Amino acid sequence: MQEEHLISDSELVEMAMQAAENAYAPYSDFKVGAAVLVEDGGIYVGCNIENASFGATVCAERTAIFNAVSDGYKRIVKLAVASPLSRNYTMPCGICRQVALEFGGKDLPVLCADMSGLYKEYTLEQLLPEAFMKF
Ligand code: THU
Repeated sequence: MQEEHLISDSELVEMAMQAAENAYAPYSDFKVGAAVLVEDGGIYVGCNIENASFGATVCAERTAIFNAVSDGYKRIVKLAVASPLSRNYTMPCGICRQVALEFGGKDLPVLCADMSGLYKEYTLEQLLPEAFMKF
């Protein structure tokens, strides 16, 4: 049976866009926001958080997913990512795709938005084919 959620896809994208306002991105000037929907309809958001030691930077998607997991939700059912600074659809990086797979599975819908809020929907399997899976 198809699951029904209270929040629409465009509302989830809008929450991702709003989350980007809290981004800490003084090095790249590229602010990103993400929003994840969890099983019971709850939503967790996140932004990218950069660091002077560049490798310590965390992407918006992982911030949002880890917010959900640390609040007790180990299953995410939808992910939206957006940047108010991108004319192109904002796509999750490879590490975030792998993290999304861990908690969302290959059928997870991923909504990738541009600066105007237009978005394209993918499944995680489209974004991360032939993925390494839990053994
Ligand atoms: N970034 C994200 O937050 N999500 C992505 O999927 C791609 C990249 C961030 C990391 C860094 O702070 C900035 O965008 C530029 O790479």
